[in-house]
Amino acid sequence: MAKKKHEKSIELLNKAVADELLAIHQYMYFHFHCDDQGYDLLANLFKNTAIQEMGHVELLSERILFLNGDVEMKIVGKVQKIQDPKEMLKCAAKMEDDSAKEYNEWANECSANADSASKKIFEDLVQQEERHFDQFDVEMENMEKYGENYLALQSIERSKTVSTRTQAAE
Ligand SMILES: [Fe+2]
Ligand SMILES: [Fe+2]
Repeated sequence: MAKKKHEKSIELLNKAVADELLAIHQYMYFHFHCDDQGYDLLANLFKNTAIQEMGHVELLSERILFLNGDVEMKIVGKVQKIQDPKEMLKCAAKMEDDSAKEYNEWANECSANADSASKKIFEDLVQQEERHFDQFDVEMENMEKYGENYLALQSIERSKTVSTRTQAAE
């Protein structure tokens, strides 16, 4: 194998992969349970965010291989078995906030090691994780504002879609 460049960056990029892999697992778990409970809006939000996190893994992995490292594919922790939508959003928002903070630090570290390409990747990810945080935060606010109605509306929307589908099939 060719000589590794930027050992420290490879380590940080792999730590980020581990974060992203946990996010993917966690958000898909949330997706399954929101879908099961009929909360389509939240179910889709979690699924779409998980897909975006998968894109992040790809971006990080390409850089690791370019630096002649290998992608460890470790997961940073265990999926939390949260089934209450409000708690899901709280958990997800915290994960995004933590990632953004870490990636900010790691961007600086890569910069200090004269690896501006890895720094740029972390900076771009900060922007995207901040956007994810914002999306989860907005949903939390909606839940605060509209309480149970917020979830009830999502279930009603689901029933409407199902009944239209059934009518169309008749
Ligand atoms: Fe991510
Ligand atoms: Fe994210």
